[in-house]
Amino acid sequence: MLDQRTIEIIKSTVPVLEKHGETITTRFYQMMFGNHPELLNIFNHANQKQGRQQKALAGTVYAAAQYINNLEAILPVVKQIAYKHRSLGIKAEHYPIVGKHLLLAIKDVLGDAASEEIIDAWGKAYNVIADAFISVEAEMYEQASSQKGGWDGFRSFVVDRKVKESDVITSFFLKPVDNQEIAHFLPGQYISIKLEIDGEEYTHIRQYSLSDSPGKEYYRISVKREAGTPHPDGMVSNYLHDIVNEGSILKVSAPAGDFVLDTEKNTPVVLISGGVGLTPMLSMLKTVVEFQPQRNVTFIHAAANGKVHALKDEVVALTTLEHVNSFFFYDSPTEEDRMNNAFDVEGYVTQEWLVNNISTMDADFYFCGPVPFMKAINTYLKNLGVQEERIRFEFFGPKGNLEESVEKEPVSV
Ligand SMILES: Cc1cc2nc3c(=O)[nH]c(=O)nc-3n(C[C@H](O)[C@H](O)[C@H](O)COP(=O)(O)OP(=O)(O)OC[C@H]3O[C@@H](n4cnc5c(N)ncnc54)[C@H](O)[C@@H]3O)c2cc1C
Ligand code: HEM
Repeated sequence: MLDQRTIEIIKSTVPVLEKHGETITTRFYQMMFGNHPELLNIFNHANQKQGRQQKALAGTVYAAAQYINNLEAILPVVKQIAYKHRSLGIKAEHYPIVGKHLLLAIKDVLGDAASEEIIDAWGKAYNVIADAFISVEAEMYEQASSQKGGWDGFRSFVVDRKVKESDVITSFFLKPVDNQEIAHFLPGQYISIKLEIDGEEYTHIRQYSLSDSPGKEYYRISVKREAGTPHPDGMVSNYLHDIVNEGSILKVSAPAGDFVLDTEKNTPVVLISGGVGLTPMLSMLKTVVEFQPQRNVTFIHAAANGKVHALKDEVVALTTLEHVNSFFFYDSPTEEDRMNNAFDVEGYVTQEWLVNNISTMDADFYFCGPVPFMKAINTYLKNLGVQEERIRFEFFGPKGNLEESVEKEPVSV
């Protein structure tokens, strides 16, 4: 527990830090990577360059500080981040490094305005926040390694099959090199892949949602090639597409994430995806079909056209079932798509379409896709009166805010 004076200082200085938020965290990363370049093995360099992670960390420290004596209130947020940390291998010993450099950066940017009392108060607050993360993560590490087929850190998997799903998306079927059991996962969860690339100074870690239903002897991920122009090409996705082949070995974390289908419920479920955002949705769809045959499920997928529409056949094969519906939206269909009646609707998913075609708004909605797509879907669902607790979504990058206006194109879709 923090004393009253410390809490007052924290609450009164949050607005100042928020104002300088990005300057402080940019400075923080410069200093921290200067003193601890080994941490570049875990941080995503592209996110750094685009300032996405800066915003995420700063925002969360300040948000947490507002709840400093009631961190329970933000436990769901802590858990979501802690899952990501656990999949990346962040350990208790990393926290003092982050804390030290955050305080140094605050001092550096605020100068004399950061009195010793203020720095001291933030040091204490950071420790309380860090302890909350460390204890949640300790439980997650324990759970990941003690579960049946589980493990700690990164385990070697061999690429058993590599399957091209569209012009831009390829699936990788991963089996453990030790041939032992693999951990169960919940539909919607992801794994982290850690790559050591020849000629690269640091390792690169990225998350990929599991695209098949649980209970198989492999994990399947389906990866979109991130072409860079005018920026550098995506590091990991291009390496997976171009260099990784059947027989290649990949380092894989145990499944993680809190964006999961609630299979306790039997309410209708609507799964909405754009582009490669279909991966967790497909896992959810297949799970409903295999384990909840009474549950109504609607699968809505938006893609540019048939060339980039991945895993279509798997979805179509399930729509013969009475409780499964699917709708494909193409915004730039090709002539061939038109000839083959390959899609249901030309254009984007709209509020009007949802209201006219979804039989009940009393359903659970899950969605994933490019950030502008998710902002639109979120707005439509709210406008249509869907309760907040029935709306769930996943960001394929650091969590952002769907209520904010779009400033930049998303890192990946
Ligand atoms: C929970 C979760 C689940 C995910 N599931 C999937 C999935 O199922 N399938 C999937 O394909 N992806 C998924 N992703 C996204 C995935 O983790 C990667 O972000 C994606 O593959 C891109 O990684 P990369 O290394 O190829 O690109 P990066 O090297 O990380 O680059 C990302 C983007 O930034 C651009 N960029 C690079 N350098 C710069 C620069 N200096 N300035 C500006 N722009 C730059 C690149 O061109 C690229 O478009 C998921 C992400 C999360 C968080
Ligand atoms: C209390 C302290 C911390 C807070 C509040 C915090 C907050 C966050 C947040 C909000 C994210 C984005 C998660 C998402 O939306 O998916 C994140 C990701 C991440 N965090 Fe932390 N974090 C803390 C400590 C640490 C520590 C100690 C390390 C390791 C040195 C670390 C390394 C990372 C990495 C590598 C990512 C993924 C970043 C990326 O790939 O761009 N964090 N953290």
